Amino acid sequence: MKHAWVVAAAVLGLAVALGGCQKADTGGKKLVVGFAQTGAESSWRTAETESMRKEAAKRGVELRLALGQGKQAEQIKAIRSFISQKVDAIVLAPIVETGWEPVLGEAKQAGIPVILVDRGVKVAGEGLYVTLIASDFVAEGEMAAEWLAQRMGGKGNLVELEGTTGAAPAIDRKKGFDETLAKKYPNMKILMSQTGDFQTAKGKEVMEAFLNSARGKDIQAVYAHNDDMALGAIQALEEAGRKPGKDVLVVSIDGVKGAFEAMVKGTLSATVECNPLFGPITFDTIEKVLAGQKLPTYIKNEDKLFDQSVAAQVIGTREY
Ligand code: AHR
Repeated sequence: MKHAWVVAAAVLGLAVALGGCQKADTGGKKLVVGFAQTGAESSWRTAETESMRKEAAKRGVELRLALGQGKQAEQIKAIRSFISQKVDAIVLAPIVETGWEPVLGEAKQAGIPVILVDRGVKVAGEGLYVTLIASDFVAEGEMAAEWLAQRMGGKGNLVELEGTTGAAPAIDRKKGFDETLAKKYPNMKILMSQTGDFQTAKGKEVMEAFLNSARGKDIQAVYAHNDDMALGAIQALEEAGRKPGKDVLVVSIDGVKGAFEAMVKGTLSATVECNPLFGPITFDTIEKVLAGQKLPTYIKNEDKLFDQSVAAQVIGTREY
C-alpha cells in the first residue's frame, strides 16, 4: 500500500521540482492536518492553539482541531478519528507521557506522520513519531531553582505547585527544580508539593490548603509549574493577608501576559519563558517531513527567565 505520507511528499516534491517553494496546497490538494490538543487548561495552552490556527490559515492548510478536555482517552479517540479521515499529518500535544504505543502504532501503520509538540512521550518502539518540538522542561525547573536560591541566600521554606500528574512538564520541571535544590542548596526546604493541574482555580485551592496547614506560616516562597497556578496562588496569598512578591516570593514558568502584568504589579517574582507559539515551526516541520526530509527526533525551543527587574521594560513586546 502506498502511504498517504509518500503521496503528499510526491505532491510537494513536484511543486519543488516545478520551481515553486514548498506550499501546502499545491497540485490542487489542500493539506489536511489533525491537531490533538490536550484541552484549554491554561492561557499558555490557548496561545498555542491560536498560534496553530493562525499559521494554518496563513498557509492555506486545513487544520482539524480536537480539544482533549484534559483526558488521554479523548486524545486517543481524536487520533483514531484523524486516521480514519486520512489526514496528511497528525500533531499531538500529549497530555501524559505514557500509554501511546497502540494509537501511534496505528498512525504509523496508516502511513500518517505524527509530530509531537510541546510535550514528549515515553514509548517502547521505534518510529512511532517523527519528531518532538519542545522546551527542555528540566532546564526550566533548574533556572527557577537557581533564581530562587540566589534570591533567598540559599535557605528558606517553600511550597511547590505541580502540573498535571504524569505530564512531561510536571515530571521534568519537578525534577529540574527539586534536584537542583537537593544537590546545591540543601537548606532550601520544600515543605509541601501537590498538583494544581496547571489551572488557576486549582492552584488557588491547593495554595489555600498549604496556607491553612500546620506549616502555612513558615512558607517563604512558592514554585509553580506554570503561571496560571502561580496567579491562583497569588490570589490565595492575598486573601490570607500575605504579600506575594514581597514576604512570599513566587516563581513560575510560561511567561504569559498575565505573568508579566503580575510582575509589573509586584506580586509575581519571576517566570521562565516557555514559548507556546508553535504554529510556524510545526507547519515548517510538517512540510519538511512530507517533502521527504530527514529530521532530528528532537527540535529544542530555547527558554529564558524574566524577573520583576525587566518586566515593565519588556511587557509591551510580549506576543502571548
Ligand atoms: O506543556 C506545557 C505546559 O502545559 C505549560 O506550561 C502549561 O501552562 C500547560 O498547560
